[in-house]
Amino acid sequence: MTGDSAAAEGVGAGTGMGDNPAGAGEGAGRSAIEHHYDVGRDFYRLWLDEWMIYSCALWDGAEGTTLEQAQQAKLGWHAEAAGAGPGSRILDIGCGWGGMLRHLLEVRNAGSAVGLTLSSDQAAVAAGVPGAEVRLEDWREHQPEGTYDGIVSIGAFEHFARSGLSSAERREVYGRFFDRCASWLPAGGRLSLQTIAWEDSGPADTPTAAFFGEDIFPESGLPRLSDVVAGFEPWYRLVAFRSDGAHYERTLASWQGRLEASRDRAIELVGRETYRRYLRYLRVSRAMFDRRVSTLYRFVLERRPAPLAGSGRAGI
Ligand SMILES: C[S@@+](CC[C@H](N)C(=O)[O-])C[C@H]1O[C@@H](n2cnc3c(N)ncnc32)[C@H](O)[C@@H]1O
Repeated sequence: MTGDSAAAEGVGAGTGMGDNPAGAGEGAGRSAIEHHYDVGRDFYRLWLDEWMIYSCALWDGAEGTTLEQAQQAKLGWHAEAAGAGPGSRILDIGCGWGGMLRHLLEVRNAGSAVGLTLSSDQAAVAAGVPGAEVRLEDWREHQPEGTYDGIVSIGAFEHFARSGLSSAERREVYGRFFDRCASWLPAGGRLSLQTIAWEDSGPADTPTAAFFGEDIFPESGLPRLSDVVAGFEPWYRLVAFRSDGAHYERTLASWQGRLEASRDRAIELVGRETYRRYLRYLRVSRAMFDRRVSTLYRFVLERRPAPLAGSGRAGI
């Protein structure tokens, strides 16, 4: 979808956005994102929950909890953490197909819910959520009028810095992200962030790393905990933190079961090769969470009134 056709479908488009804007080369640009997310909404619909939430769910520990319930619990947890209430103005960075925007507007009665995505297929679907403002735009280019009461970002952070960056380069990218979010929040405003991260050493230079980096999530890469903390600490107090790798293993198991159950239809939609590639990606990801190579973090961050003394960050 071009900027023009995006606008025609009620989606705001970033101005002057190239394939990979301001932070050229540091993270996933639009074509890398579309490589993954524009495989087709009908394909993803086969194996995600009804609201097409494409990130780790929040399982309450009960045996019979469904994927739908666990995804709604996750949306509720982050919305609550970000302070979403009646009339509030909330930004969702990496809004996917619009599940959180729908939760904010329908369940929380938010006054405004703004979503950013780099996928035109997602933007077109999310724009169908009544009242949502969806922008086909990189967070690096977002320039809101005024501030937000809260920000959520779920499962997008993994795309902000590609694999192969040094820890210092990675911290710089994350620092820019957290600085920008801080400039959109009042003091005391909250950012609720969810991301996959390396728990043990990542599989650098292995076939698994190449499979993820080239075939599944090009131009993307996982953070380490210390890099995330170094990025946010100058501007935020940590008010809640969860390490939920087992929740992602369970989410992936559920997705895998649904995809396998819809095998014939999936092959009809995307072909045998893509079907197999996705199944492999789900299986390998499960193994990585199971062996604790990777994990899933949820952070609730509260904006400080001023940057931490000695952090080198300028006030807003
Ligand atoms: C795994 S999906 C998660 C979607 C949604 N948050 C959910 O939980 O279903 C990642 C999302 O991040 C978005 N994204 C990745 N990099 C981005 C960037 N630089 N700016 C804005 N959105 C980005 C993608 O377009 C996609 O919507």
